[in-house]
Amino acid sequence: MDERPSSRLSGFYRQSLDQRLATLAGWAGLDDADLAALRAGLSVEQADHMVENALGLFALPLGLGVNFLINGRNYLTPMAVEEPSVIAAVSNAARLVRAGGGFTAGSSEPVMIGQVQLLDVPDPAAAEGAILASRDRLAALIDPLHPSIVRAGGGLRGVEVRHLPATPAGPMTIVHLLLDCRDAMGANAVNTAAEAAAPLLELLSGGRARLRILSNLSDRRRAWAACQIPVELLARGAAAGDEVARGIVEANAFAWADPYRAATHNKGIMNGIDPLAIATGNDWRALEAGVHAYAARDGQYRGLTDWRLVESDQAGPALAGRIELPLAVGIVGGATKVHPAAQVALKILGVASASELAEVMAAVGLAQNLSALAALAAEGIQQGHMALHARHVALAAGAPAGLVDQVAAQLIAEGQIRAARAVEILAELG
Ligand code: MEV
Repeated sequence: MDERPSSRLSGFYRQSLDQRLATLAGWAGLDDADLAALRAGLSVEQADHMVENALGLFALPLGLGVNFLINGRNYLTPMAVEEPSVIAAVSNAARLVRAGGGFTAGSSEPVMIGQVQLLDVPDPAAAEGAILASRDRLAALIDPLHPSIVRAGGGLRGVEVRHLPATPAGPMTIVHLLLDCRDAMGANAVNTAAEAAAPLLELLSGGRARLRILSNLSDRRRAWAACQIPVELLARGAAAGDEVARGIVEANAFAWADPYRAATHNKGIMNGIDPLAIATGNDWRALEAGVHAYAARDGQYRGLTDWRLVESDQAGPALAGRIELPLAVGIVGGATKVHPAAQVALKILGVASASELAEVMAAVGLAQNLSALAALAAEGIQQGHMALHARHVALAAGAPAGLVDQVAAQLIAEGQIRAARAVEILAELG
C-alpha cells in the first residue's frame, strides 16, 4: 500500500522555484532545515573534510523528476544534472508509463564481489579445492569485521575461484569473495574483507596475493525494471503511436547489434541514473564502470534495454520495455551520510533499502531511454533541445520570468535562436 500522495505533479515545471519547494515540502514532509540543505547543498567546511586540497564547491543544478509509479508506489526523483531536457524528458516518460500502469521493478540480493589476485600458485586445481573447502573459515574471518552489515542480515555469501591461465604476467588464480552488503554500497567493507582474507588465501593456495579490491562489475547486485505502454499513448506530433512504438523497437535493435549506437543508447540510460546517484551521494563512477562492463558481458558491447511490441489483453497492442543492470548503491555511509542534500534526497525518495533505491534507478534509466528513443524515432532529438535552448537564450538576454516562454517561442518561430535577436524581441515587447 502506498502511503504517499500521487507523484503525478501536473504543471510542476510551470511553478516558480519557491512554489516547487513548497509543493515538494508538502509532498515529502520536508522541514525548513531540509529545504535549506536542498538550496545550499554542501558547505566549504564540509567539503574540506571530504577531499584533500579542497578549494571550494562545484555546484550542479538539482531538479526533481516527477510522475513515477513503481511497484504501485509513488516516487519523486531528485536529480543533480547539468544537461537540459533530462528531467523534463524523464518526467514525461514516467507520465506515459504511469498511464500504462506504472513500472514493475525488482532486484537481486545486494551482493558485491571482492577480488584477491593470487600468483605463483603451484597447483591451481588443488588451490581451488582448498579455498572452496575453507568457506566457513573465511566467513569466520570476514563477518566479524562488519558487525553492522551482519546485524542487518548481510555477510559472506560465497567464495568462488577463477583461473586466468594466460595473462601477460603468467597464470593467476582469482578468488571472488561474495559479500552481501545490505544497505551499504560496500566498497569499504569488501576491500577490508579482501585484505583480511588474503593471508589465509596465500596459505591455502601456496601462492602470493597481490591485488585485494572490489570488482566494479557488480553483476551479482542487479536491479531491473519493466513497463508496458499502450501504443496509442506514444503518439507525438504527426507520428502515430504505432509508428513511434515501431521506431523504438527498431532503435533498440540497432543498439543491440551495434556498439557505436549502444554507447549512445546506454549514455542516455545513464543520463537518468547518474543524476540520481549524485543527488543521493552515491559513487556514479562505480555505477558507470559496472554498467558498461555488464553491457559487454557476452563479448560485444550492447544496449541494456529490451523494447518489443506485445498484445496486451485489455488494451490492444502495447510497447513492453525492460532493463536489467548492475547498480551498486547505498543509503548508509559514505557521502550519502555526509552530504546534507543527499540526506534530503533520500528522504524525498523514501526508500527503505539500498535495493529499493537501485530499483528506482533502474526505472529512471528505462524511462530516460524511452523518452530518448521516442524522440529519436519521431521528430528527432533537436526539436526539444531547441525549445530549451531558446528558453536559455531568452533568459540570458534578460527576459523576466513572465516573458521567457513568449520570447523563446518567437525565436523558434523565426528560426534564429540568437542572443542579439532575443534582446531585440524584448525591446519590441517593451
Ligand atoms: C543525449 O544526452 C542522450 C541521447 O543521445 C540518448 C540516445 O541517443 O539514446 C539522446
